[in-house]
Amino acid sequence: MSGPNTNFDPKQVSALSAEAVDQMVAEAVAAIAAAGDLDELKAARLAHSGDRSPIALANREIGALPPAAKADAGKRVGQARAQVKKALEDREVVLIAERDEQVMRAEAVDVTLPANRRPLGGRHPLTTLMERMSDVFISMGYDIAEGPEAEAEWANFDALNVPPDHPARTMQDTFYVESPDSGVVLRTQTSPIQIRAMLDRELPIYVVAPGRVYRTDELDATHTPVFHQIEGLAVDEGLTMADLKGTLDHLATQMFGEGIVTRLRPSYFPFTEPSAEVDLECFVCEGASVGDPSRPCRTCGSEGWIEWGGCGMVNPRVLQAVGIDTEKYRGFAFGMGIERTLMFRNGVTDMRDMVEGDVRFTQAFGVDV
Ligand code: DAH
Repeated sequence: MSGPNTNFDPKQVSALSAEAVDQMVAEAVAAIAAAGDLDELKAARLAHSGDRSPIALANREIGALPPAAKADAGKRVGQARAQVKKALEDREVVLIAERDEQVMRAEAVDVTLPANRRPLGGRHPLTTLMERMSDVFISMGYDIAEGPEAEAEWANFDALNVPPDHPARTMQDTFYVESPDSGVVLRTQTSPIQIRAMLDRELPIYVVAPGRVYRTDELDATHTPVFHQIEGLAVDEGLTMADLKGTLDHLATQMFGEGIVTRLRPSYFPFTEPSAEVDLECFVCEGASVGDPSRPCRTCGSEGWIEWGGCGMVNPRVLQAVGIDTEKYRGFAFGMGIERTLMFRNGVTDMRDMVEGDVRFTQAFGVDV
């Protein structure tokens, strides 16, 4: 700092003495160093280098000094201002860096933390299988048909040529809505959708109807009171059993792959004549377990065949019940269990897995959409 100056009145310029200026700088530097963040630094800047700061006020007094003292005081105050400015700049650099680091830390994402995600559900394999089966028919030009689950007893039984004294109609098999004489049942099969399709649509008709059906069975490994079927119905001129067989073979190939063997085994259903069960050759043992106790097959129970569904040529009495000219039109129909198909196709052995709703079962089938 500069030495004493004896050419002017020291009282008049006490604010500009070396000690006073040093004191201002010291206070400014201390306040700047004490500023813990940019807001505090802003306050320190205002207090120590703003228009009303001691240094600014001292600066203003320079003009009142005698000429001989002006240069000296001006230099001193100029240096002081430069020191304070430098201290502010340095502190600002440090505080900005600290602020940025804090922001980075606060906004950091730790990619190694376990994700807090809710497992997505999976679509149920019964749903995706119904869609796949439906798609096979859509690609052959069929429509999807629907009907209510609480169905008219007439459509579920009478129109399908199931007489009132048929065992399937007893309280043991059928869930009746309200009372047995309400005329409404929980449909026991998807076959009533055939009746609705024939009443609603123009001929020729080619429809499939996947849906939920109900029977009074206890839930166990092979039964469930609520299950699913896919119904098929074609009504056209000149249809034969060969058309039915070709259609079912196509479905079997699409579901189980090239080389699957089917057979039609004579059977009885009131709504078809002739009627057949459609069997699949066991694709595990391919018939090799039949009559060979050393090679038992769990999939087909060593029968060589597994029952897949029912089918046949639509009984003319059914066509007549809905007013179709049986001289001109013939139909074929079929109905498959979706649960059975899933069991064969994907090796599911326990029906209960399909109804329990455990997402681990569902997800094992992948995120099929
Ligand atoms: N509705 C029958 C059942 O649930 C299955 C069935 C058999 C459907 C023959 C048909 C058919 O369309 O023609 O057991």
